[in-house]
Amino acid sequence: MRMTDLIIKKRSGKPLSKGEIEFLVTGYVSGEIPPYQISAWLMAVYFQGMSFEETGYLTRAMINSGKVFDLSSLAGPLVDKHSTGGVGDKVSLILAPLAAACGVQVPMMSGRALGHTGGTLDKLDSIPGYQSVIPEDLFRRGLIETGFAMTGQSKDVVPADRLMYALRDVTGTVESVPLITASIMSKKFAEGAQSLVFDVKCGSGAFMKTAEEAEKLAVSLVETGRSLDRKIVAVITAMDEPLGRKVGNFLEVEESLACLRGDGPEDLMEVTLRLTAWMVVAGGIVPTVEEALDLCRSRLADGSALDRFLANVSLQGGDREALLERENKARAAYSLEMKADEEGYVESIDSFALGMAGIPLGVGRNKTEDAVEPLVGYELLKKRGEPVKKGESLVRIWSESQETGETVRDMIRPAYRIGQKIPELSSLILKEIKAL
Ligand code: URA
Repeated sequence: MRMTDLIIKKRSGKPLSKGEIEFLVTGYVSGEIPPYQISAWLMAVYFQGMSFEETGYLTRAMINSGKVFDLSSLAGPLVDKHSTGGVGDKVSLILAPLAAACGVQVPMMSGRALGHTGGTLDKLDSIPGYQSVIPEDLFRRGLIETGFAMTGQSKDVVPADRLMYALRDVTGTVESVPLITASIMSKKFAEGAQSLVFDVKCGSGAFMKTAEEAEKLAVSLVETGRSLDRKIVAVITAMDEPLGRKVGNFLEVEESLACLRGDGPEDLMEVTLRLTAWMVVAGGIVPTVEEALDLCRSRLADGSALDRFLANVSLQGGDREALLERENKARAAYSLEMKADEEGYVESIDSFALGMAGIPLGVGRNKTEDAVEPLVGYELLKKRGEPVKKGESLVRIWSESQETGETVRDMIRPAYRIGQKIPELSSLILKEIKAL
């Protein structure tokens, strides 16, 4: 087999076979196929696309390029969730213990903040003593004892993705839907999940800005999963304003605790409950999403989801007393408010701009090696549709310096638009696509 022939085949729009895909992935990882040939193939994929079956072959070849976590000795069902990333998206912190309380085992391997989107590991690291990256034996123990565990992606998992992503990044091919699909799915399956629920975010603060783009990715994830005989649900959710009211590492842990006590903001709870309910259905605990929603609500009401969260904090080295003591108290040194210039209703909030404002504060980072701050962030005192008076506070910012706080306030100001009419508010669940 010659890589040149595979490039030409893809360039002319023909699907590659399982053997051909395996040849190029193993050849690239072993160094036998040079990056310039893989770059040419990536560009051919970008323009010609891939069938779902072909994307499945790529996913499987990528999984087999490195370590695969074998969690099959666990009772299961093993179901994980992946979000394409948003602002204020702390869903994982609530969903994992809630799904666990409903009988699902959740092997959650998450990432760190980058650009305008936050990272679950950075949020967990703001809990005193918490080890967000743990050894495999503790990860397994967590799954057995509390039904879920949180850790970072192991470097040995899907090395093909790391190599290929670096090439995609410099060849203008990151946005290819089949390449995104194989990249996301290979990591989740290599980490031991049997079934997956995807939160495909759509809107100004999302990777996919339009409904069409989001649906294309959702269909690709579900159909590729189907070709691999996996249960997959993709929920397209709106990301036109930050999710919940708090954005910041510890601030988001706090808001997650409120949700686990049944006292969370409506928008965040709507998305979290729906995604968790689909995990419960994908895991075969109950047959319908309505029954799964009832089960989730009862696990929140009886405190078992909160108990699971706190058990995980202890298991991963966190100090739960210190966590509860700091709740609603621990804040960065400086606090300032951004006030409304006019009276009316909050018409829109640009979540991308708000996400970017988190970077100078230290909520997120520009480069992977940058440090983040645990106690900085902001609280949205007003969200879409809420009435405001002139001079009333819209956002409260916490920062580690007055100057940064002022810079961030200037960044946030244009993100808020005040109108004279109450904007139409609708469900954040835009569409659901399933292979069950
Ligand atoms: N996230 C991933 O893991 N891979 C992509 O290609 C895009 C987003």
